Amino acid sequence: MVDVGYSKKVMEHFMNPRNVGVIEHPDGYGKVGNPVCGDVMEIFIKVKDDVITDIKFRTFGCGSAIATSSMVTELAKGKHVDEAMKLTRGDVASELDGLPPQKMHCSNLAADALHEAIKDYKAKKQKKK
Ligand code: FES
Repeated sequence: MVDVGYSKKVMEHFMNPRNVGVIEHPDGYGKVGNPVCGDVMEIFIKVKDDVITDIKFRTFGCGSAIATSSMVTELAKGKHVDEAMKLTRGDVASELDGLPPQKMHCSNLAADALHEAIKDYKAKKQKKK
Protein backbone atom coordinates (compact mmCIF):
# COMPACT_ATOMS: atom_id res chain seq x y z
CA MET A 1 0.00 0.00 0.00
CA VAL A 2 1.15 3.55 -0.70
CA ASP A 3 2.34 5.30 2.42
CA VAL A 4 0.34 8.52 2.71
CA GLY A 5 1.30 9.14 6.31
CA TYR A 6 -1.45 7.30 8.19
CA SER A 7 -0.51 6.05 11.63
CA LYS A 8 -0.91 2.38 12.51
CA LYS A 9 -3.82 3.30 14.78
CA VAL A 10 -5.67 5.07 11.96
CA MET A 11 -5.22 2.03 9.73
CA GLU A 12 -6.35 -0.28 12.51
CA HIS A 13 -9.55 1.67 13.18
CA PHE A 14 -10.19 1.99 9.47
CA MET A 15 -9.87 -1.76 8.93
CA ASN A 16 -11.80 -2.68 12.10
CA PRO A 17 -14.07 0.23 12.91
CA ARG A 18 -15.79 0.03 16.31
CA ASN A 19 -19.46 0.80 16.91
CA VAL A 20 -20.62 0.97 13.31
CA GLY A 21 -24.38 0.94 12.83
CA VAL A 22 -27.58 2.56 13.87
CA ILE A 23 -29.43 2.71 17.20
CA GLU A 24 -33.21 2.55 16.90
CA HIS A 25 -34.94 5.21 19.01
CA PRO A 26 -31.72 6.89 20.14
CA ASP A 27 -31.72 9.34 23.06
CA GLY A 28 -29.61 11.65 20.93
CA TYR A 29 -28.92 11.93 17.22
CA GLY A 30 -26.42 14.09 15.39
CA LYS A 31 -25.82 14.55 11.68
CA VAL A 32 -23.23 16.78 10.11
CA GLY A 33 -21.91 17.34 6.63
CA ASN A 34 -18.31 18.19 5.84
CA PRO A 35 -18.21 21.46 3.90
CA VAL A 36 -14.78 20.57 2.50
CA CYS A 37 -15.67 17.28 0.81
CA GLY A 38 -19.46 16.94 1.17
CA ASP A 39 -19.25 13.74 3.20
CA VAL A 40 -21.84 13.06 5.88
CA MET A 41 -21.63 11.60 9.38
CA GLU A 42 -24.37 10.42 11.73
CA ILE A 43 -24.00 9.55 15.42
CA PHE A 44 -26.60 7.85 17.61
CA ILE A 45 -26.37 7.73 21.41
CA LYS A 46 -28.16 5.95 24.22
CA VAL A 47 -27.91 7.76 27.54
CA LYS A 48 -28.70 6.67 31.07
CA ASP A 49 -28.38 9.07 34.01
CA ASP A 50 -26.43 11.42 31.73
CA VAL A 51 -23.86 8.74 30.90
CA ILE A 52 -23.42 7.52 27.32
CA THR A 53 -24.14 3.81 27.53
CA ASP A 54 -24.16 3.04 23.82
CA ILE A 55 -23.03 4.86 20.73
CA LYS A 56 -23.00 4.03 17.04
CA PHE A 57 -22.04 5.85 13.88
CA ARG A 58 -22.78 5.70 10.19
CA THR A 59 -20.88 7.66 7.61
CA PHE A 60 -20.60 8.34 3.94
CA GLY A 61 -17.07 9.51 4.52
CA CYS A 62 -13.52 8.58 3.70
CA GLY A 63 -11.19 6.24 5.58
CA SER A 64 -10.04 9.01 7.92
CA ALA A 65 -13.65 9.85 8.75
CA ILE A 66 -14.28 6.19 9.55
CA ALA A 67 -11.17 5.92 11.73
CA THR A 68 -11.90 9.14 13.61
CA SER A 69 -15.52 8.25 14.27
CA SER A 70 -14.52 4.81 15.43
CA MET A 71 -12.11 6.49 17.86
CA VAL A 72 -14.65 9.11 18.97
CA THR A 73 -17.22 6.43 19.81
CA GLU A 74 -14.65 4.59 21.90
CA LEU A 75 -13.65 7.78 23.72
CA ALA A 76 -17.26 8.84 24.36
CA LYS A 77 -18.70 5.51 25.50
CA GLY A 78 -19.10 5.39 29.27
CA LYS A 79 -18.52 9.13 29.65
CA HIS A 80 -20.84 11.68 31.23
CA VAL A 81 -22.43 13.75 28.46
CA ASP A 82 -20.72 16.91 29.75
CA GLU A 83 -17.33 15.20 29.58
CA ALA A 84 -18.05 13.83 26.10
CA MET A 85 -19.05 17.33 25.01
CA LYS A 86 -15.50 18.45 25.79
CA LEU A 87 -13.93 15.94 23.39
CA THR A 88 -12.37 17.97 20.60
CA ARG A 89 -11.26 17.29 17.09
CA GLY A 90 -7.71 17.62 18.35
CA ASP A 91 -8.25 14.96 21.05
CA VAL A 92 -9.47 12.52 18.45
CA ALA A 93 -6.60 13.12 16.06
CA SER A 94 -4.00 12.85 18.80
CA GLU A 95 -5.53 9.61 20.14
CA LEU A 96 -5.01 8.26 16.64
CA ASP A 97 -1.36 9.42 16.71
CA GLY A 98 -2.16 12.18 14.25
CA LEU A 99 -3.69 12.49 10.80
CA PRO A 100 -2.02 13.77 7.65
CA PRO A 101 -2.62 17.57 7.48
CA GLN A 102 -4.76 17.31 4.36
CA LYS A 103 -7.03 14.92 6.26
CA MET A 104 -7.52 16.93 9.45
CA HIS A 105 -10.85 18.25 8.13
CA CYS A 106 -12.16 14.68 8.20
CA SER A 107 -11.72 14.47 11.98
CA ASN A 108 -14.11 17.41 12.37
CA LEU A 109 -17.06 15.31 11.33
CA ALA A 110 -16.83 12.81 14.16
CA ALA A 111 -16.43 15.31 16.99
CA ASP A 112 -19.08 17.64 15.55
CA ALA A 113 -21.62 14.84 15.07
CA LEU A 114 -21.03 13.69 18.66
CA HIS A 115 -21.63 17.22 19.94
CA GLU A 116 -24.82 17.47 17.88
CA ALA A 117 -26.06 14.16 19.29
CA ILE A 118 -25.44 15.37 22.85
CA LYS A 119 -27.20 18.67 22.16
CA ASP A 120 -30.14 16.72 20.76
CA TYR A 121 -30.22 14.56 23.90
CA LYS A 122 -30.18 17.64 26.14
CA ALA A 123 -32.92 19.34 24.12
CA LYS A 124 -35.13 16.25 24.36
CA LYS A 125 -34.49 15.96 28.08
CA GLN A 126 -35.44 19.59 28.55
CA LYS A 127 -38.73 19.00 26.76
CA LYS A 128 -39.60 16.07 29.02
CA LYS A 129 -39.32 18.20 32.16
FE1 FES B 1 -14.62 13.61 3.39
FE2 FES B 1 -12.56 12.72 4.69
S1 FES B 1 -12.62 13.26 2.63
S2 FES B 1 -14.53 13.10 5.46
